[in-house]
Amino acid sequence: MTTRRHHTLALAFLALALAAAAAPPQLAPLPQVTILATGGTIAGTAATSTATVGYTAATVGVAALIAAVPELAAVARVSGEQVFQIASENMTPAHWLILARRVDELLARDDVAGVVITHGTDTLEETAYFLDLVVKSAKPVVLVGAMRPSTAISADGPMNLYNAVALAASREAVGRGVMVCMNDRIDAARDVTKTNTVALDTFRSPELGILGVMEGGRPAFYRTAERAHTTATEFDVTNVKELPNVGVALAYAGSGRVAIDALVAAGVKGIVNAGVGDGSLSVEAKAALVEARKRGIVVVRASRIPGGAVARNGEANDDALDFVVADNLSPQKARILLALALTRTADTREIQRMFRRY
Ligand code: SIN
Repeated sequence: MTTRRHHTLALAFLALALAAAAAPPQLAPLPQVTILATGGTIAGTAATSTATVGYTAATVGVAALIAAVPELAAVARVSGEQVFQIASENMTPAHWLILARRVDELLARDDVAGVVITHGTDTLEETAYFLDLVVKSAKPVVLVGAMRPSTAISADGPMNLYNAVALAASREAVGRGVMVCMNDRIDAARDVTKTNTVALDTFRSPELGILGVMEGGRPAFYRTAERAHTTATEFDVTNVKELPNVGVALAYAGSGRVAIDALVAAGVKGIVNAGVGDGSLSVEAKAALVEARKRGIVVVRASRIPGGAVARNGEANDDALDFVVADNLSPQKARILLALALTRTADTREIQRMFRRY
């Protein structure tokens, strides 16, 4: 090689090095998060900015929800889909099946890092627990809502949405199951419940505590959810057209057997009895549940008390009566697990195993 060619090559390398130094650094693209909007107060509007009751839920569309929080662009590439536009008292298992399939479709894509679901707060914990049991991905799924409508002074929706998207975009959130992110707290779908009809900090995990908190758009986790969820469950609703019908009967002084008999007459496949204390049954309720079990209906003893597990063979001889106990699941969540269990088996020993595992 001649000296002149050496010189030309050296100049070419120098030019390349200078060009590389002058070019702006190539930043990795932000994670892609899809917001699935279902309605609720987070999408609600009132006649005045001070009205926080008597407003209309589920009126604002997903594009407007996203546009109201331009700060989202700093934490994720966000897209939105309007899956439903309902108040969450109208959410049904049929809606859950549609939602679960869409979540699975999105999370199967390489370009989607996580999903946020905006939802009314009234049944948010039920949708969250259902998804926790059926979604087949370790990627983050975060449910979020608001207690004040979008038109209110100090509406809580925008900050809640920002935190939920930041959580769904974060690597730390992978593999933790479905989460609820409201009021700066991160709760596990299985443990969380709405505890106050109006307060902003209504979502709590009373006995087991939060998973973590959001601080400056980053999650700080303190514990993991121990019960099996998402990819570790045996539930697959891909081809399930309808969930088995399971009802809840609430016990109170003098409740007797009317609600249980009505559920049997309605043709349910399972009954969750929200008993008093440790799932205790009145004489009438016990007789009605024994008859229901003889008809093949699976009976789960739960409790209307918000804390503590129902002890197997404690207040009733579950072995002899062939009943299942709900562990520490609330009646509304025990109903979800029982419905999913019934998609797999009617064997009560197997179903009891599932109530210990999930
Ligand atoms: C609803 O659950 O849809 C209404 C109440 C709320 O979102 O807070």
